[in-house]
Amino acid sequence: MEDGAAFNGLSCSWPTTLHTMASRGIILLTGGAGFIGSHIAVEVAAAGWTPVLLDNFCTSERSVVDRLGELMGMPVRCIEADIRHEGAMRAAFGSTAVHAVIHLAGLKAVGESVEKPELYHDNNVRGTEVLLAAMDEVGVRRMVFSSSCTVYGTPQRLPIDESHPLSAINPYGQTKLDIEHMLDRWVDAGPDRHVCSLRYFNPVGAHASALIGESPLGIPNNLMPFVVMVARGELPELGVFGGDWPTHDGTGVRDYIHVVDLARGHVAALDQLDSMHHERINLGTGMGASVLDVVHAFERMNGAKVPYAIRPRRAGDAAAAYADPSLAERRLGWRAQLGLDDMVRDAWSFAQRQG
Ligand code: NAD
Ligand code: WQD
Repeated sequence: MEDGAAFNGLSCSWPTTLHTMASRGIILLTGGAGFIGSHIAVEVAAAGWTPVLLDNFCTSERSVVDRLGELMGMPVRCIEADIRHEGAMRAAFGSTAVHAVIHLAGLKAVGESVEKPELYHDNNVRGTEVLLAAMDEVGVRRMVFSSSCTVYGTPQRLPIDESHPLSAINPYGQTKLDIEHMLDRWVDAGPDRHVCSLRYFNPVGAHASALIGESPLGIPNNLMPFVVMVARGELPELGVFGGDWPTHDGTGVRDYIHVVDLARGHVAALDQLDSMHHERINLGTGMGASVLDVVHAFERMNGAKVPYAIRPRRAGDAAAAYADPSLAERRLGWRAQLGLDDMVRDAWSFAQRQG
């Protein structure tokens, strides 16, 4: 079979009878082996659904699947496939009765997207087109999409609610806007289609078990994995991008959200999906923390040192960005429960367990 090469790997380690047991149905997580997807898999399973991962492992490790199995106490099914591969996607949906898709598969490094905009369009936007076509063939009509606060561009006002003006300030952000628009067209193209685009702010932290967490390849772009590498002595110091922003301590302020809270937001979205056409909802805490707030919380909670030096501002950065998360509370009955101390503690526990 021509598609066999792409549709193989870790597939079918799941007992075939399982979805006939107490499960509410199968949730297919594209990009499910990644940082956020792996945490969603745990919460989806805890809510009674059966998670099935689909991933090409371009930015994640195959060992995540085994670690998830250990965490859940049962094997986790993972289909090794690229969302851009029509045959592999057709085969994936052909073999699995999917209730809804949580679509996380995508590339997310802003700097890389500036260097390789075509790759980002191909992987993220065209990949979503292929995924939607495969869903159409088998009549899967529900999707929760991993969007991002990047769709708001440079903040015009704070806190950022869902009516904030949209703009793309880099090719990665453009892919998120393009996909949200594509999903508008998709829900209008057929009956009974339901989409929730969740606009994440800054997901950090790790599962309390320390079995899954964030493992970026190479030197990280984002603050928390960089802080972790400095605390481990793998990098000499954290460069703080600007000490003269108009914020309480001069460093950039963001809305960090614990990845487990974020994952639970997806379960809440699944529960409300059938009442939606295409809704966009922020997932954030509504609380801003500065770079130095993060550093100080990390040092206090973990007894680790994070040497830092103030450097010039990073191009494209904003002084502050944080969510108005009230729509998520009204629409999904969800609000973040965990704070910055939980985030830095769990990020460090996961890093230490990696050895
Ligand atoms: P991640 O890199 O850890 O996970 C992405 C996963 O998608 C990886 O496992 C990767 O192998 C897979 N993938 C990528 N392209 C694929 C393809 N063509 N076919 C199949 N699998 C593919 O990143 P993450 O932080 O878990 O992000 C998940 C999603 O959330 C992404 O869409 C990202 O844009 C979005 N998001 C992330 C953040 C963040 O700060 N982490 C913020 C907002 C939105
Ligand atoms: C956070 C703060 C930096 C690294 C990114 C993406 C965005 C979205 C969310 C996916 C800022 C400062 C960072 C460092 C630092 N992701 N910083 N030194 O910029 O809010 O947004 O994640 O959709 O698209 O761009 O997150 O973690 O890069 O930075 O001082 O080495 O930490 O200036 O104030 P950001 P970040």
